Amino acid sequence: MTSRLTDLPEWKALAAHYEEVRGIHLRELFARDPRRAERFTLSAEGLMLDYSKNRVTEETLRRLAALARACGVETARAAMFAGQPINRTENRPVLHVALRNRGNTPIYVKGVDVMPEVNRVLARMQAFARDVRSGAWRGFTGKRIRAIVNIGIGGSDLGPAMAYEALKAYSQRDLTVRFVSNVDATHIVEATRDLVPAETLFIVTSKTFTTQETMTNAQTARAWCLAALKDEKAVARHFVAVSTNAKEVARFGIDPQNMFEFWDWVGGRYSLCSAVGLALMVAISPEHFLAMLDGFHAMDRHFAQAPLERNMPVILGLLGIWYNNFFGAATHAILPYDQYLCRLPAYLQQADMESNGKSVDRQGRPVGWQTGPIIWGEPGTNGQHAFYQLIHQGTKLVPADFIGFCKAVNEVGLSRASRDDHHAKLMANCFAQTEALAFGRTAAEVATATEVAGRPELVAHKVFEGNRPTNTILADELTPAVLGALIALYEHKIFTQGVIWDIFSFDQWGVQLGKELAGKILPELIAQTEPELRHDSSTNALIRRYRGEP
Ligand code: F6P
Repeated sequence: MTSRLTDLPEWKALAAHYEEVRGIHLRELFARDPRRAERFTLSAEGLMLDYSKNRVTEETLRRLAALARACGVETARAAMFAGQPINRTENRPVLHVALRNRGNTPIYVKGVDVMPEVNRVLARMQAFARDVRSGAWRGFTGKRIRAIVNIGIGGSDLGPAMAYEALKAYSQRDLTVRFVSNVDATHIVEATRDLVPAETLFIVTSKTFTTQETMTNAQTARAWCLAALKDEKAVARHFVAVSTNAKEVARFGIDPQNMFEFWDWVGGRYSLCSAVGLALMVAISPEHFLAMLDGFHAMDRHFAQAPLERNMPVILGLLGIWYNNFFGAATHAILPYDQYLCRLPAYLQQADMESNGKSVDRQGRPVGWQTGPIIWGEPGTNGQHAFYQLIHQGTKLVPADFIGFCKAVNEVGLSRASRDDHHAKLMANCFAQTEALAFGRTAAEVATATEVAGRPELVAHKVFEGNRPTNTILADELTPAVLGALIALYEHKIFTQGVIWDIFSFDQWGVQLGKELAGKILPELIAQTEPELRHDSSTNALIRRYRGEP
């Protein structure tokens, strides 16, 4: 992009258009066009996106697509798929799409096709997963592995942890699978408290293999294991590593034979389809893992090929920009109506906020516009009894994605057609919420309701303004392929937005400073004698209080 974002004629046209449409109510938009839902619904790769309950007209979408074009979304998309080093601050390509390139078309990095390596590691993962699942892989004392503990943090934790929860119904139920991330010892202590060392396998997952939390937990796990098995040789049967850093893996004492590699062109928060997904593959089987990759790949193809106007990730991205940059919405809620997706909001928090939480453009100049929103959420219906009050009647605009499924994984109730069906109740709530948010309830409607009879002062409190935008993403059933398509949908939404905001979405320099300062403070907390503190007065006082010094 040569002009700055807000100087583009397409941006200015959108700003003018915003002034024209900002006051229009969704009630009016739906009344004007009986075919609105049909017009603003798109199906792709097992997902249906109904975006009709957004404060947009056909013109809005045309103008947003024009903005995407002017910002070079199509060129940037092609550059990513072609393996160009689009992560320029780290001088790396961004090729998570290669990890699930099920068509196996060659993808070149520095003239070398990466697909043979991708497939080699995938084959090793499958062999390992089959061995653990069948009992062919035994612990040091010859016992079968009954528990898998993934030790990792951020992208080396959230992806497999989220997907394991999501696909628990596909997991081998006699295998315990746990995820340890926090450096707080409570996490590893509670995760291992009821496990048997001779039957436990640790997967130490870290792209860099230097991350403080992961290395600390891995050392603790090693000590826990060796305290029971009393032989260094046991490490080879109870520890495997997933990393890009063979040297550090060897230094830790894990046999390089037991290392599953990935590459620097896989970003941590985009790494679920790499060997980072090993614990998930062991849990759900190679077949289901590959089905998940198929779903990712299908959405990758859709993103790569569909015109911007009919491109699901692009539409989600553009709607996000509409609210973030024109309506001033600071947050975006992810509200899955499926308990299995309980970790999806946390996963998307990292994917989105670590990618697009940036404040300088690609030239290093301060951006003059808002970038990534705050991502948050909880599964429905729980959220309804907690924070939905604010979404319905608060002063802030909170655009939200509702995610649900037509068929339950667990059909419980008298029958699918009965009022006792859990799933019908769940989805009735999902649909009702988007209806209530869009259309609200007017003062006139409230005034005629019997509940306010004789108490007109209650009317104002019971009015729902409505006009609160939502997307609904609906699929038949939560399968591995659908999960893959859903995650890829959000990955490419984030990509689209980053291109338009003219920021680098694939680095994360903002996590460094805290790590460095913690490195300075740690020796001060554990020093035998009172250390000389050179921080600000607040930090100095906190350190002294921790040490119990006056
Ligand atoms: O501190 C942030 C971060 O670098 C994330 O980007 C990454 O996913 C996480 O830490 C874990 O890093 P690693 O896989 O190298 O341990």
